[in-house]
Amino acid sequence: MPQRQPRVSPVPGLHWTYVTVDAPESTMPVSHAIEADVLQRQDPELAEVLLGERERQASALQLIAAENFTSPAVLAALGSPLANKYAEGYPGARHHGGCEIVDVAERLAVGRAKALFRAEHANVQAHSGSSAVLAAYAALLRPGDTVLALGLPYGGHLTHGSPANFSGRWFDFVPYGVDAETGLIDYEQVRTLARSHRPKAIVCGSIAYPRHMDYAYFRAVADEVGAYLIADAAHPIGLVAGGAAPSPVPYADIVCATTHKVLRGPRGGMILCGADLAERVDRAVFPFTQGGAQMHTIAAKAVAFGEAATPAFAAYAHQVVANARVLADRMEAEGFAVTSGGTDTHLITADPAPLGVDGRTARGRLAAAGMVLDCCALPHADVRGLRLGTAAVTTQGMGEEEMAHIAKLMAGVLRDEVGGAETRREVQELTAQFPPY
Ligand SMILES: Cc1ncc(COP(=O)(O)O)c(C=O)c1O
Repeated sequence: MPQRQPRVSPVPGLHWTYVTVDAPESTMPVSHAIEADVLQRQDPELAEVLLGERERQASALQLIAAENFTSPAVLAALGSPLANKYAEGYPGARHHGGCEIVDVAERLAVGRAKALFRAEHANVQAHSGSSAVLAAYAALLRPGDTVLALGLPYGGHLTHGSPANFSGRWFDFVPYGVDAETGLIDYEQVRTLARSHRPKAIVCGSIAYPRHMDYAYFRAVADEVGAYLIADAAHPIGLVAGGAAPSPVPYADIVCATTHKVLRGPRGGMILCGADLAERVDRAVFPFTQGGAQMHTIAAKAVAFGEAATPAFAAYAHQVVANARVLADRMEAEGFAVTSGGTDTHLITADPAPLGVDGRTARGRLAAAGMVLDCCALPHADVRGLRLGTAAVTTQGMGEEEMAHIAKLMAGVLRDEVGGAETRREVQELTAQFPPY
């Protein structure tokens, strides 16, 4: 099996092959793990699925704001024998024998997370972003407590009070919103609602907010009404790691996050807090809301934290934002109504209505043309808009020039000026120049 050579990114430092921690460049492209693996011989049906998905990811533009391409090193840890190990509890205090080696992996992950985010304590066992939020609530709240959070129609996550989620059933959520015109958080409303409802906790975080949040303001309001502050930084935490977004760590009592978005780690969650809450948070994760830790994922998180501490990752994070700014700008020039007029982060939300198409139809047409993104609620209207991000395409090595090209491709398809099949071919030509693996 010939080894693929990593391509040279036009933007130095972006591609994951250039952010390897203190080891030489990866010599095991992911294709090796799939093609040469026993899976293809033993279970060609399933191997076909893996290869098909790899091809889908490589041949279309992955613009879903929550997605990214992990490094081969992260994938290697995920596919390692650590997946076999049961490890209930925490390093040095497990309910299972034989944990002495996986303990090292978890200590590495915790130590690297604490250093990366300058946090006194890190719990890296949360299975997902939702599990992290569940544990934060379990650590600080009792059923029936009042919680102030961004309403779901304005970009709040399901765990911020959706009636379909445990949060909406077990707690009394009071939603704050964003200004219909500017798309920015209505901070005055946050203060007014906090004063009148006296919540036990205030949550700041969103699935679709393109701007930085004013954590200092949230902290001041929380202090004024005696509430805990929980930052759900699932989206921006990778930018925080790379120094491209402000950190909620100095302000929030608990920071919840995912490791698989801009941070470019494995699918999973993470919780950061001060030493005073460390024990409560750890007990809220295990044994209160979870069982055995997933040691292969924790090892992969350690790898990702190591990568994220490098100067190359900082360059990547800043390029993610630079790319998003250009993409937002070019989309606006093409006629999209971009929420808040732009972005500070990796994330853009926009209404395609001025191009003569609604959000759901736009998502379908773009997908058919090879551009994969999401729908989302819009602050100014009762219709669905588009949500997209630049984390994955930046990992592939794309820069501002490619962002301008993508905005043009999107507008051409939605205005019906260029056929879907023709655009699909152009997308394939573009992605072929930037293979993720
Ligand atoms: C703000 C926020 N919180 C929580 C989550 C949940 O993460 P997960 O899907 O890993 O449960 C997300 C996921 O996108 C999110 O954006």
